[in-house]
Amino acid sequence: NRKSPKRERTSKDKRWEEQQLKQAVQKPDVDEIQVEGSQDYDFVFDEDALIEFTEVTDDVLPEEKGDYDTKLLEQLDKEQSRLQSIQSTRKSLPVYRYRQQLLDAIKENQILIVVGETGSGKTTQLPQYLVEEGYTKNGTLQIACTQPRRVAAMSVAARVADEMDVFLGKEVGYSIRFEDRTTPEKTVLKYMTDGMLLREFLVDPELSKYACIMIDEAHERTLATDILLGLLKDILPHRKDLKLLISSATINAVKFSKFFYDAPIFNVPGRRYPVDIHYTLQPEANYLNAAVTTVFQIHTTQELPGDILVFLTGQEEIETAQANIEEIANILGSRVKPMIIAPIYANLPQEQQSKIFQPTPQGCRKVVLATNIAETSLTIDGIKFVIDPGFVKENSYVPSTGMSQLLTVPCSRASVDQRAGRAGRVGPGKCFRLFTKWSYFHELEPLPKPEILRINLSQVVLLLLSLGITDLINFPLLDKPSIPSLMKALENLYVLGALNSKGTITRLGRMMCEFPCEPELGKVMHTAATHEKCKGVLEDVVTIVAMLHETASLFAHNQNDNARKSGIVGSVQSDHMLYLETYNNWRDMDYSKSWCFDHKVQYKTMIRVRNIRDQLWGCCEKLGLVAMNEVALKKITGEANLEPRIVRSFISGFPMNIAQLGTSGYRTIGEQSGGVSVSIHPSSVVFQEMRKEMKKPTKFILYQRLVLTSKEFMRDCMPIAREEWLQEMVPHIFKSNKK
Ligand code: CDP
Ligand code: MG
Repeated sequence: NRKSPKRERTSKDKRWEEQQLKQAVQKPDVDEIQVEGSQDYDFVFDEDALIEFTEVTDDVLPEEKGDYDTKLLEQLDKEQSRLQSIQSTRKSLPVYRYRQQLLDAIKENQILIVVGETGSGKTTQLPQYLVEEGYTKNGTLQIACTQPRRVAAMSVAARVADEMDVFLGKEVGYSIRFEDRTTPEKTVLKYMTDGMLLREFLVDPELSKYACIMIDEAHERTLATDILLGLLKDILPHRKDLKLLISSATINAVKFSKFFYDAPIFNVPGRRYPVDIHYTLQPEANYLNAAVTTVFQIHTTQELPGDILVFLTGQEEIETAQANIEEIANILGSRVKPMIIAPIYANLPQEQQSKIFQPTPQGCRKVVLATNIAETSLTIDGIKFVIDPGFVKENSYVPSTGMSQLLTVPCSRASVDQRAGRAGRVGPGKCFRLFTKWSYFHELEPLPKPEILRINLSQVVLLLLSLGITDLINFPLLDKPSIPSLMKALENLYVLGALNSKGTITRLGRMMCEFPCEPELGKVMHTAATHEKCKGVLEDVVTIVAMLHETASLFAHNQNDNARKSGIVGSVQSDHMLYLETYNNWRDMDYSKSWCFDHKVQYKTMIRVRNIRDQLWGCCEKLGLVAMNEVALKKITGEANLEPRIVRSFISGFPMNIAQLGTSGYRTIGEQSGGVSVSIHPSSVVFQEMRKEMKKPTKFILYQRLVLTSKEFMRDCMPIAREEWLQEMVPHIFKSNKK
């Protein structure tokens, strides 16, 4: 079992825990739950705020899977009953009743929009119905079902393979970036991220191997989904035999219908029990603490069974919450019933993902700590209580400064209503909102903002251009991005050399598209193989690029600190070089597991990095970059220091991600706003180097991303030792800065 990272405990924390303990043990039985935490606040039971859900009583509930005495049964019986139970669960899902009607509607219409409550069986059942109906023409055609999230694609594919009693990766598979678990000649049903289907348009613009496409979770309005809908709208008239299903939670279905020439909407009536909504009386300053408090409040006052689902914004928060809950549970010991903590977020290793679906043993309570992946993508049975702080992490981009960052922002009313609904699947439930009722009505936006309106469009613009779509303004989109953000994207691509001055895609631009990663990183690799001042460092650069994809889960706990203490690296000047050294040392030890353990590096993550690296390398080979690099490599003699070449390669791909040192620290180089004040993140090697050796900071620093917490931090930093490298690599930007 995984140990969760320990946070430094302050005396305030200890006081808080003691308080918890007292409250938890002497809690009176209350109906209207009162949660007391770092400050005094109450939950009010609010009758007006009841979400009205219809109770469907004549439906059969899914069969209980909690048979804990199976040891006595023969292995065969066990398998048999498992299959039976799976089949009866399938039949108990709301969509099952409408199976034939759905199939008829699909037969009659090329495009169908399917709306239904989360958990009604859209994702797992509809594609199976299509297979059963023979749409795959004896396995010669495929059915694709897209998901906005990789975890959902993997977990749903595993579930469906199980239901169809086939091996995952054969008849049923999944395809996510850097991981393709399908067998082309065998796979009939493929779950994939929307981004992967988008890439398939590059190879096969007619999507000729598919019989049906299901765009699932369309209401999420990810960028890739929006673009896919536009592209599909374009090709459907030529591909009359291609069926398109768009499935969505209840919000926004009409918008999809309008977009697709008033396509019919099929509504699957769901089964949902009433959910009582409780709000805090005052705004909560620390929602993480409040969430943990509420978990114990529920656990000590509410009957079993009844699992808890807590919505948090990301891995770090989830790990902190898990550590806190475990600590308190430890203190409480046998005074409370046992709890099973099950985290779920995008980077959670696959082996641990299934934990959230395992039935909770009797006498136990499962506490699922999830990102908004559990909002609609994954259905977890048995949830009776939802705790919702009302926040979500969102990527947002400001075209005027060219900065992109992940921000924690309040979610929309539609989202929090979805979340509340998760409590009403197995019976009447309760939802605890860690914000006020006033805030719900006056502060929350009604709907989430589609991704296309808040991110950097470079990658999409490049993709559309490479598909031959040059009229960006008239490309069909549900929501059109603003002209300034389109202009900014074109400008970025021009700076990177992906477009020429006429706005036409260049050879380099096409190559950048071929890489399964951001075009900027593609440019870095291209430069490393071809540029006069960089050539020869392709191998190292590909390693760094691969490592950059996995930095979030690389080091056990304290990021670089550990790696340094345990002596992986003597003295590296940048995070990029730390990643390189880490990988190379591991490679030199024959990719050993024990090496990872000794150096506190996550072995599983390194395996993933190796796999990503192999794929990127394969791509470089295909594009002829490896051959070019070889030639150059021969010319580099002796013990040449390759680092300047590596730094230059990154400058060429990220000329906009550079901060300059001024009188009051670093500022980004933004043309219009004069830059934003930024600091080096404390976890960075660069931060530690500067502190430890009192080094003079370099005038320029390159960063991979900005994170806003207490202030604006640069993560994954690389000092630029010599200013002339900037002029060499991106003269059109840095000429003016020359002294
Ligand atoms: O897509 P929709 O929200 O309509 O429902 P679904 O994802 O197809 O889920 C249907 C049922 O399958 C639910 O009862 C889920 O709990 C179950 N399921 C599961 O047990 N394991 C998974 N990995 C996915 C779904
Ligand atoms: Mg679904």
